[in-house]
Amino acid sequence: MFENLEFPLELKPSDPRFGVGPSLVNSEFIFRLGGTGKELLGTSHRRPAVVELCREMQLGMKEYFKLPDDYSVVIGNGGASFLFDMIGLGLVEKSSLHFTCGEFSQKWYRAHKNIPWIKVDEKAVSYGEGITPEFHEDYDMICATLNETSTGVQIDSIPEVGEKTLLAVDATSGAGQIPLDIKKIDVYFFSAQKVFAGEGGFFICFLSPKARKRALELSDREEYIPNIMDWKYAIETSDKHQTFNTPSISTIYLLNEQLKLMNTLGEAEVARQAKEKADFIYAWADSREYLNCYIADKKYRSTSVATIDLASQYSAEDLCARLRALGWVYDIEPYRKLGRNQFRISLFHNISIEDLKKLTNLIDFAINSEDKTS
Ligand SMILES: Cc1ncc(COP(=O)(O)O)c(C=O)c1O
Repeated sequence: MFENLEFPLELKPSDPRFGVGPSLVNSEFIFRLGGTGKELLGTSHRRPAVVELCREMQLGMKEYFKLPDDYSVVIGNGGASFLFDMIGLGLVEKSSLHFTCGEFSQKWYRAHKNIPWIKVDEKAVSYGEGITPEFHEDYDMICATLNETSTGVQIDSIPEVGEKTLLAVDATSGAGQIPLDIKKIDVYFFSAQKVFAGEGGFFICFLSPKARKRALELSDREEYIPNIMDWKYAIETSDKHQTFNTPSISTIYLLNEQLKLMNTLGEAEVARQAKEKADFIYAWADSREYLNCYIADKKYRSTSVATIDLASQYSAEDLCARLRALGWVYDIEPYRKLGRNQFRISLFHNISIEDLKKLTNLIDFAINSEDKTS
């Protein structure tokens, strides 16, 4: 299906990258990175040029998220998946409770479940349904996923937790454009390759004073924790605007440029633009007989990752393949393990609403052409 379909040239998006991570990196920033010449790439991450870059990025994060002064910005290599283990090993005292609704929240749950000395439980809903995390006093950590990237579910609220409990939020694909009250959160983390359009393999993690204290205390526990996963070292080096081991400097550079851009607007404006794009895409899907929003309950529909099912008589896979072959649209396939006839579309800050409109026009055009020929 759609194999030889030609589309009107005016429907071609200005950029083909619609993926939810790695996401559209601003080309201007790539050129700008080239312009740093011999002063940054290939220089020591323990020397002023890179240390200053990290410091600027950490301060930029504090500004963007309006972090309280006593919160720490911990940075390091490995991305969010690495933190799944690191949090389980070094921030959970005895027990964690996970609210899961898709592949990533379950991955986090399973990472903790592997740790023999903690008790780990899950409150789960079926894929496609939303979930609201709640406080349970039997656990010293509550784990919530801000935006479940596999299904396109965002949480609608976060709980207030008790004094002995930490609220941890995997904000990987929502951080930057789905605001939360950060003061209620003790551990807030994300990877660089999503809304902030860096590249993979790098994490940013905000710790409340309560979480920092626990991290340092548990670092002395008797169970073995590899140095690279030890919060004590991650915190110590981050306080000095460095990472425990050698980072990708280009990732930090791109992330910082994107952050500076977003700081010129502020989180509220970025979130408003995201909402505008989400309203547009869901209204489009609701208005077409051949489309269906995968997330039925509107309050859980993501403003950063839209999942739209296609009627079974058409093949989303074939349409994605045709658009990819043309070089017009990349990465709108559904999450691979979901196995649905679906489009998953990034609403990240760098995706313009004009390009989203073109993408929806392309899909409409393909379906209408197919109807005419069949
Ligand atoms: C919600 C969520 N958590 C965690 C991850 C894992 O991130 P990384 O691949 O950077 O480890 C992803 C990746 O897409 C994600 O979407």
